Amino acid sequence: MDFNLSADQLEIKELAMKFARLEMMPKAQEYDEKATMPLEILKKAWELGLVNTCIPTEYGGSGFSAMDSMVITEALAYGCMGMNTAIMANDLALLPIVIGGNNEQKKRFLTPFTESYKIASFCLTEPGFGSDAGGIKTLIREDGDDIVINGNKMWITNAGYADLFVLYGTTNPELKHKGITAVVIEKGTPGIELGKKEDKMGHRCSDTRAVTFNNVRVSKKNILGGLNQGWKIAMKTLDHSRPMVAASAVGGAQCAFDHSVKYAKERIQFNVPLSSHQAIQFMISEMAMKIEASRLLVHKAAWLLDNNQPNTQLASYAKAFAADSCMQIATDAVQIYGGYGYSKEYPVEKIMRDAKLIQVYEGTSQIQRLVIAKEIFQRS
Ligand code: CAA
Repeated sequence: MDFNLSADQLEIKELAMKFARLEMMPKAQEYDEKATMPLEILKKAWELGLVNTCIPTEYGGSGFSAMDSMVITEALAYGCMGMNTAIMANDLALLPIVIGGNNEQKKRFLTPFTESYKIASFCLTEPGFGSDAGGIKTLIREDGDDIVINGNKMWITNAGYADLFVLYGTTNPELKHKGITAVVIEKGTPGIELGKKEDKMGHRCSDTRAVTFNNVRVSKKNILGGLNQGWKIAMKTLDHSRPMVAASAVGGAQCAFDHSVKYAKERIQFNVPLSSHQAIQFMISEMAMKIEASRLLVHKAAWLLDNNQPNTQLASYAKAFAADSCMQIATDAVQIYGGYGYSKEYPVEKIMRDAKLIQVYEGTSQIQRLVIAKEIFQRS
């Protein structure tokens, strides 16, 4: 067993951390206030090879392992969790193509993402179906060599800028998960209607919208894995993307922790620095333990993926534990800063707002516990 990152991983980590500190952190507050997509920062990240980590080398990608992508994600989320969401959502949308696409589809859809900066969206959630993903109602009807798609999607990250959507629909809602079909829809296809940009508590610079698919017609050649084969593709995608989301929670928590330690050494109360007070020491110690435990869970979930072993249970351990820890750590960081922590002039207020979303998207903390219980009671 080796807990060290490889020389290559240390190099990628340094590159991503430098980018986080020099390019993301100085602009994070401004983009949070403006609530607009930081396109020039995202493009720079792409130019450095930090975006679309899941694309294999055969299709022009960097061939990063899952562990590599965790290292990158943690560093980018340290810079700004919102900007990282815009970056990570590309992987979430491209992973179903990597997992379920045939060679022709991978060439057609993945390679353009390696040639210029492009944006992708994963469209699973609907206004009435979030946690209950198997209940989705977006209808996919066969029509000769095409399919026709009708339905509404909600909370779609990157939607306003997406060059490509990976959509999940159903050929028959009564079939539940057995009718789910995954299909790639390119920007400009008639019938795609974007909703207004959501005004969110955190991750404000990432673009989140409803998307309506109104008689959208695409070739059957865009279906991933065949009709009614989409559910397993979605679940396997989440097995990969949930550890990434957990890695982003580690990055956000580490950032809140570093700010808290620095502040605790500087701020004097009762004639001594905060760091001399046991009440603060205990909070800092709790933070440090939770960050280390979260990171180890992320790395184990990624290691299982890289070694072709089932990781569903570990992915949910990592997602739930890291997300809940990040929320606690960010809340305690605000507590350590006291009144200043509640002010937008200091960095921990934004981290606290950003942390909340990690407990909600890509399966709530409650859904992760449900998945863990199913693995324990039904599948082992
Ligand atoms: N890999 C392969 N197969 C899996 C699997 C996995 N990880 N998990 C489940 N399955 C299989 C089961 O074995 C079962 O197969 P059989 O039919 O052969 O028995 C089938 O899938 C159905 O599984 P369940 O009975 O567990 O299904 P369910 O409907 O009761 O619950 C759920 C499934 C785990 C709760 C699922 O609905 C879920 O993950 N919900 C949360 C959805 C989610 O994470 N949404 C996030 C959207 S992305 C996002 O947040 C947007 C963004 O832009 C950031």
